[in-house]
Amino acid sequence: MNAVIPVSEETGFDVVIVGAGIGAHSVALSLPSTLRIAMISQDAVQTSSHWAKGGIAAESCLSEIDAHLEDTLAAGARLNDRDQVHRLVSGAPEAIRFLVELGVVFEPTLEREGGHQSARIWHADGDATGLAVMRVLGARRAASLNITSTTARLVQLVTDGDCVQGALVEQQGSLVLLKARSVVLATGGATGLWSDHTSPDGNIGTGMVAAYRVGATLGDLEFTQFHPTAIALTGSPLPLATEALRGAGAWIVDAEGKRFLFASDPAGELATRDKVSLAMHRHQGMSFLDVEPIGPAALAKRFPSFLEACRRYGHDPFANGPVPIRPAAHYSIGGIVAGPHGETNIQGLYAVGECANSGVHGANRLASNSLLEGLVFGRRAAAHIKDRPTLRQRLRYPSTLALSPRAPSRAAISAIVDVGLGVERDHPTLQRSQAALEALVSNEMNPYFASELQSARELVAMTIQAATLRRGTIGSHTRSDAITENPNYRIEFNQSQPPRRVERQS
Ligand code: SIN
Repeated sequence: MNAVIPVSEETGFDVVIVGAGIGAHSVALSLPSTLRIAMISQDAVQTSSHWAKGGIAAESCLSEIDAHLEDTLAAGARLNDRDQVHRLVSGAPEAIRFLVELGVVFEPTLEREGGHQSARIWHADGDATGLAVMRVLGARRAASLNITSTTARLVQLVTDGDCVQGALVEQQGSLVLLKARSVVLATGGATGLWSDHTSPDGNIGTGMVAAYRVGATLGDLEFTQFHPTAIALTGSPLPLATEALRGAGAWIVDAEGKRFLFASDPAGELATRDKVSLAMHRHQGMSFLDVEPIGPAALAKRFPSFLEACRRYGHDPFANGPVPIRPAAHYSIGGIVAGPHGETNIQGLYAVGECANSGVHGANRLASNSLLEGLVFGRRAAAHIKDRPTLRQRLRYPSTLALSPRAPSRAAISAIVDVGLGVERDHPTLQRSQAALEALVSNEMNPYFASELQSARELVAMTIQAATLRRGTIGSHTRSDAITENPNYRIEFNQSQPPRRVERQS
């Protein structure tokens, strides 16, 4: 039986932003202070942005942006939208200035990471750049009188025709309709659907499915980036050992202490994340990160949060030896199809950061381009939103909502995702996973949690379909039964039609 829940309304906002990471903050802090903004999230201090261990890729002078553009295209196997990549890399110097003006203190030397031709990575606080940046942004947001931050869970988006009119959220057990002329989804990715993930547990794609249900298009769902060096000392979320450690000289070894990556790629430890993850997946037995070549002093100075994460779980990488690692779902490349200003095909609805499929990452994301995307496209979305007319249609919304309290368990969904949508996929396993998903039994649950799990199941079904339809191997999508094909298409999902392959603009 459905739970029938009363809905109250709040009408005082111009913009609702769902999320609390760098994309959400970049929108909020770039909008005029005359606009009233509601920022809602389930946890305002534990987002993927807060946890980001890499840095922010940005050339300090505009004459160098072509090299950053080229590296981004190469990492993305050239399935990227070139114009969007140009917007990303040319917006990068200004994005860094924006952060510096807000008070972020970057380290004086730029660093180089895998896939980058030059040293263009900005770091703050060593391997805790995300946290350093988010502390500054969070403080600015808290001091902004036009921004109201609330702990709440997105239940659904509300539209009138093809125009967004607000967001229905659960706040302390009550349903509240936040009416607004613009709604920004900055809800992060869906990597929490895998048992092994580096993102916060709440990242299960709720924002993506909410957008899909009101008519937005989802794309590139088959592309999920796995990070090879998730620290396997605890259950998920697994702490991340930044790939800069490999750049600084760390080795990946097997249980015998033997380096094995060169057998699959001459770049060894410096090969891209997808290649390293695949080599580890195919190698027998466990893998370990050996940081001996970096040495204790340099490690403590440059990688304090790696050291802290190991010690928290009782492992000293020098006293106890190499640290167990395994690939984990790290970043969703697919998501809500979004344009140059984060706009979707629903008027007034924007998607920014990891929940968006802006086309900047192609088939695989270049390291340290994710915080950058949130920043650049967050600021671009704000510029668009501020010019939207304030006139609103009067929306009539029912005073109650019926929510089904039934959904399969999260563990059951993840077990299917792990098998069907791992580092390497094939047709028979994808087919079996789809059948297993359809056969899942729903258990009685809290209606709000159940509504998230129903979304998760829907997203997994679409992702399995996308991975089935893309029969070649490219970027982060590896098929052990790959065919040779022209990969230059995007698989799109929209409620109004069956999944379709759309030719990409190059
Ligand atoms: C890392 O430092 O390895 C992660 C950074 C990123 O995902 O860009």
